[in-house]
Amino acid sequence: MQEVSQRRATPLGFQPPAIGDEEIAAVVETLRSGWLTTGPRAAELERRMSEYLEAEHVIAVASGTAALHLSLLALGVGPGDEVITTPITWPATANVIVHAGATPVFADVRESDLNIDPARVAELVNARTKAILPVHLAGQPADLDPILALGAKHGLSVVEDAAHAAESAYRGHKVGGLSDATCFSLYATKNIAAGEGGLVSTDRDDVAAAIRDLRLMRRGDGSLYDIAVPGYKANLSDVLAAIALVQLDKVEAHGEIRRRQFALYNDAVGDLDGIEPLARDDRDTHAYHLYVVRIDEEGAGATRDAYQRALAAEGIGTSVHFLPVHRLSWYRERFPEQPPLPVAERAGAEILSLPLSPAHSDEDIGDAIAALRRVHAQFTG
Ligand SMILES: Cc1ncc(COP(=O)(O)O)c(C=O)c1O
Repeated sequence: MQEVSQRRATPLGFQPPAIGDEEIAAVVETLRSGWLTTGPRAAELERRMSEYLEAEHVIAVASGTAALHLSLLALGVGPGDEVITTPITWPATANVIVHAGATPVFADVRESDLNIDPARVAELVNARTKAILPVHLAGQPADLDPILALGAKHGLSVVEDAAHAAESAYRGHKVGGLSDATCFSLYATKNIAAGEGGLVSTDRDDVAAAIRDLRLMRRGDGSLYDIAVPGYKANLSDVLAAIALVQLDKVEAHGEIRRRQFALYNDAVGDLDGIEPLARDDRDTHAYHLYVVRIDEEGAGATRDAYQRALAAEGIGTSVHFLPVHRLSWYRERFPEQPPLPVAERAGAEILSLPLSPAHSDEDIGDAIAALRRVHAQFTG
């Protein structure tokens, strides 16, 4: 790979989807088949994902948000309950707790990988706690053993937000069948991207059956139009399932490209004072979903926001995963009594996600690295 010393001629997108002729052909074939709504392709996606995730059941739904929401409802989370989750996540993780009528309680994250800290979770469990909702940030699994142990000890459900973790394994076990429900996203930037869509995987027959009822609705036993459970119309279209099936065929090849891009960044970032990638645990399989660095103003000579602006001026798209949810306006206003979450708050101001995508070439990543080096030299020089 050759590093360029010049600014790119064209901007580099942060995380463009890697869609090829195969996905386009699959969509055309689906449209020709007449199945626009949930049909044989959604069913095939469920079957193939249950093999891939090593889980008994997979239920295809309209989004990762719906996967989380229906999982909480299926597990009986409702008004009066508390659900403990991480503040370093996409707001949907907390929003669905509110949508279920329950209260989100934020536990601080670990300094190393910014995943929820099981020790902080243990301090927050009380008589109102109903569930724990960890997120596998960037593709590094959260530390599930102590979380599952807390769940078992106190009779709590555990729902995983695995939106970043399609390829992750925790201590040698595929993420997907380890807790009561594991929720994946098929959003445009995800490792298996259909544009929109989501999946719930579970080994529990009762949870799978409840989510199937909530996904559409459960028909009653009486007349044709009778219903027994009013659902959320959160089913997945076959058009999107067809794209996801092709993306699943490519998941290993795309994963190899992501892994290589991680290695290129790791080599480069090692030399840059004040810039550190999030830690990975070698006992686990990382999904290489996001390459997140922390920018320490003192060592790196400028804030994360200044780096983001300077990289944008270089034509390099970046993103932030994530601002702490408890600091977002709605959460601040609705839950003003927030406990301090010092690790999450500091990290929220320091994290920056660099371009990563199977649609990018090694040269593209080389351009992002060269721009990062130039910006770093300006700020520290
Ligand atoms: C951590 C996390 N949780 C949940 C979601 C929600 O998924 P969706 O956009 O498919 O609703 C996302 C991203 O989109 C996410 O990054």
